[in-house]
Amino acid sequence: MIDIAKNIATAPRRTKASVIRELLKITNKPGVISFAGGLPDPQHFPYDFVAQSVKEIMAKKGSVALQYGPTDGLPELKEEFVKFLKKHEGIDAKPENLIVTTASQQALDMVGRLFIDASDPVIVEKPSYMGGLQVFKSYGAEFIGVNIEDDGVDTDELENKLKWLRAQDEHYKFIYLVPDFQNPSGVTLSAKKRKKVIELSDKYNVAIIEDSPYRQIRFEGKAPDMLYRMDKETRDTGNIISLFTFSKTFAPGLRLGVILAHPQIIKKMEILKQSLDLCSSSLNQLIAADFLRSGFFEKHVEVIKKTYKMKKDTMVAALKKYMPEGVTWTSPEGGLFLWVRLPENMSADDMFQEALKENVAYVIGSAFHCDGSGKNTMRLNFSYPTPEEIEEGIKRLATAVKKRMAAAGK
Ligand SMILES: Cc1ncc(COP(=O)(O)O)c(C=O)c1O
Repeated sequence: MIDIAKNIATAPRRTKASVIRELLKITNKPGVISFAGGLPDPQHFPYDFVAQSVKEIMAKKGSVALQYGPTDGLPELKEEFVKFLKKHEGIDAKPENLIVTTASQQALDMVGRLFIDASDPVIVEKPSYMGGLQVFKSYGAEFIGVNIEDDGVDTDELENKLKWLRAQDEHYKFIYLVPDFQNPSGVTLSAKKRKKVIELSDKYNVAIIEDSPYRQIRFEGKAPDMLYRMDKETRDTGNIISLFTFSKTFAPGLRLGVILAHPQIIKKMEILKQSLDLCSSSLNQLIAADFLRSGFFEKHVEVIKKTYKMKKDTMVAALKKYMPEGVTWTSPEGGLFLWVRLPENMSADDMFQEALKENVAYVIGSAFHCDGSGKNTMRLNFSYPTPEEIEEGIKRLATAVKKRMAAAGK
């Protein structure tokens, strides 16, 4: 047998197992209420719509659905996505601004391949999406972390870091942002800060990755414009690369997403994708096109929003009811997650096993921090568990927190 550790290439050697995927193995024990996953509620997958849609596709376009398709995506889906962008985001796009991907995780991999050479600085939020950190790390990124506040990334700190990088003659590559109901924190980047981010992108000539899988799941408040739109309508730098996915609005099993960017970037992405998977599933693209064209998308998203709002409210009410003084949390206006802060001197990492003993699980916040900080934080998912599980799970979590506080006080 070959020596795996020595013989595998640098990129997989650098790739560390996702803490979440490892945690899910432990937390899938019977009896454990898990807030650790990030799964949409399967009760609301559009089973009947998909069954009907596949039947019609097979009758009318079977030979397209079961065939290889163009690498940049089927025109049927691109056409519908252009209309979607106009209607929902006020964005004028052309098919050459778009490439269909095998969901956003592939898009992040393509971003990594396109931009990162080993030891290149990449600017990320603290905390940030773990799957993004994992893939950028595999290409050798050196992370520059910028803290987030209640209204998104700290733009003063961001500018200071950019200034510093420029002063070092560093070849910084891009800023990775999850601006809407961020995974993990649930925080949304305000309109004011979005404007500043565009300004910085122009001033420091740096690409912005706008990764926004949760944007359509807004159940409260008003959405600020997408960074892509703001840039188009103001400075038109062409620096914004926006990632969309059907995972949260339709079904993650479809593995389908779209990148919106300048045609020159899309062209490069297309060449990369040729070597990755030739094309995304033609059948799934036709189902997604049907999902948008039929107007079922709008109806479906309304159902999801109603359910997730109810679940978020249930979680926030349970946190208020059971958590001791000193514990705080975010109350996001959309998405799937909220973020809990324990008092500074408490470690959610250390408490994890104790929580498991109480039969409740979460994701440790430090796993989302590129520098391992954030030890007193945790991410809780509210989309997957039932309202009864949310109430009971938060009660159990509060028991673990109180026991730890009592032990520390002794
Ligand atoms: C911020 C963010 N980006 C990308 C993804 C990847 O999603 P998918 O590959 O299913 O589109 C996720 C998944 O949870 C996410 O939270």
